Amino acid sequence: MNILFVTSEAYPLIKTGGLADVSGALPKAVQALPQFSGSIRVLIPGYNAVFSKLQNAREVARLIVFGQHCNLVLGKMPDSDLEVIAIQNTFLYERNGGPYNDSLGHDWLDNPLRFAVLSRIASILAGTNSPLPDWKPDLVHCNDWQTGLAPAYMKLVDHSPAKSILSIHNIAFQGNFHPGWLHTLALPVNSFQINGLEYYGQISFLKAGVFYADKLSTVSPTYAKEIQTEAYGFGMQGLLKSRADDLVGILNGIDSNEWNPEKDTHLRKHYSSVKLDGKKTIKANLQKHLGLHVDADAPILGVVSRLTHQKGLDLLPGIMPELVKAGCQFAILGSGEKPLESAFNDMAQRFPSQVSMTNGYHEHLSHNIMAGADMFIMPSRFEPCGLNQLYGLAYGTPPIVTRTGGLADSVCDTNESSLKHHTATGFVLENVSELSLLVTIQRALSVWKDKPTWKNIQINGMKQDLSWGTRAVSYLALYNNTLGQHSEKLAQLMLV
Ligand code: ADP
Ligand code: GLC
Repeated sequence: MNILFVTSEAYPLIKTGGLADVSGALPKAVQALPQFSGSIRVLIPGYNAVFSKLQNAREVARLIVFGQHCNLVLGKMPDSDLEVIAIQNTFLYERNGGPYNDSLGHDWLDNPLRFAVLSRIASILAGTNSPLPDWKPDLVHCNDWQTGLAPAYMKLVDHSPAKSILSIHNIAFQGNFHPGWLHTLALPVNSFQINGLEYYGQISFLKAGVFYADKLSTVSPTYAKEIQTEAYGFGMQGLLKSRADDLVGILNGIDSNEWNPEKDTHLRKHYSSVKLDGKKTIKANLQKHLGLHVDADAPILGVVSRLTHQKGLDLLPGIMPELVKAGCQFAILGSGEKPLESAFNDMAQRFPSQVSMTNGYHEHLSHNIMAGADMFIMPSRFEPCGLNQLYGLAYGTPPIVTRTGGLADSVCDTNESSLKHHTATGFVLENVSELSLLVTIQRALSVWKDKPTWKNIQINGMKQDLSWGTRAVSYLALYNNTLGQHSEKLAQLMLV
């Protein structure tokens, strides 16, 4: 079984969020399964960062797509044997700025072209005229809107014999563009209709994937259900409902080489569920590093996040003064919406020894906050899966979360019964509001003071198997199912 895993970001080559973590870890985990016989290659745009990290890179093919001269460069991930095909095109991908936007945060205006090229090349590699005749995918695994056109090209243009899967990591991002792009992107005119890729008068890359892919998956069982409702479907709920039999939710895992308190290379001390002491030293170092008052008895509430409406962190600044008064400290790392960045900066100026706000993107600090904080705050309005709460669980930093998507599937609220059954792993808000967040944090703080109980909650989370291993088995079953190699209902693959 040859699989082409198509993605717009993959850690450690390039990362803006959880998609990169998944794309870096899942293909590796499937490849490592003893029951998997075949190969996986990741297809990714050749941004500058990709070429600076790709190992043993060599050109394997040249092709012209929508008038763009592209070289396909085959290499390996810097940290594993996973093979990567990077699309080299200086004009499209080798720019200063991020994968999706310029340094001011504005989307690149030619994103439709940049990601249609990615999708089209995926389709060509799975077609009968592939420039790589020695390696042909049986299955193209697409991820998010940036790759959504691939199933459409496979079905409508290249008439590919391969099958396709679209994994939805976040339905809020749909890649909707002016229909004027139809011609440039060589999309058949008759695909621009409700039974096709038309979406409220625009071309929708995501809808194309949802409509044309053979199977669909998303990153938690709860989100698989939520996106079929008006409240969470961002307009795609009807189509998703009609495809419910082809849709499965598989909870993400974590890369236990990268995110493991026993060997995390970003940490100066290590710890485990049986020996938690190192966490105290990391906490003291974190306080020192961030200019917070060094005090083992002050609970640190950690935040590492994109600062967007989705993440619900706008609920935090209003209740911070009260929590600061109660002795809490905050270690915040994030970037995004400017008013929210300013609100956290104001708090940091007002309470310098108790609130630290680091603006920007810092991998090293994110690991140290995860390990050094006492609790992790994630009050998302919706959360397809969420990886940070999983990292919180693994690092003995109980998450405080809303009951949605992957948060609902991965965090078990602390109460009498869950404590008794050793299943308590965090704290779940009643609803998405400032008051609920405040009350839940206060509830967590009162448990925190009871050290033996807190330790039990930490250990419950740390002992869980959050690795990709078991999840990779579900993906392999999904691959087999898509290829018609076995026929159990997709619903049976739903995995928490
Ligand atoms: P999303 O992909 O929606 O942003 P996830 O929780 O799935 O949310 O994944 C976020 C990933 O991005 C995690 O690996 C997290 O540590 C990382 N991350 C988010 N913001 C930052 C930041 N400012 N600095 C470092 N890492 C960050
Ligand atoms: C998206 C989602 C996040 C998920 C990640 C990886 O960015 O917002 O919840 O964990 O994709 O699947």
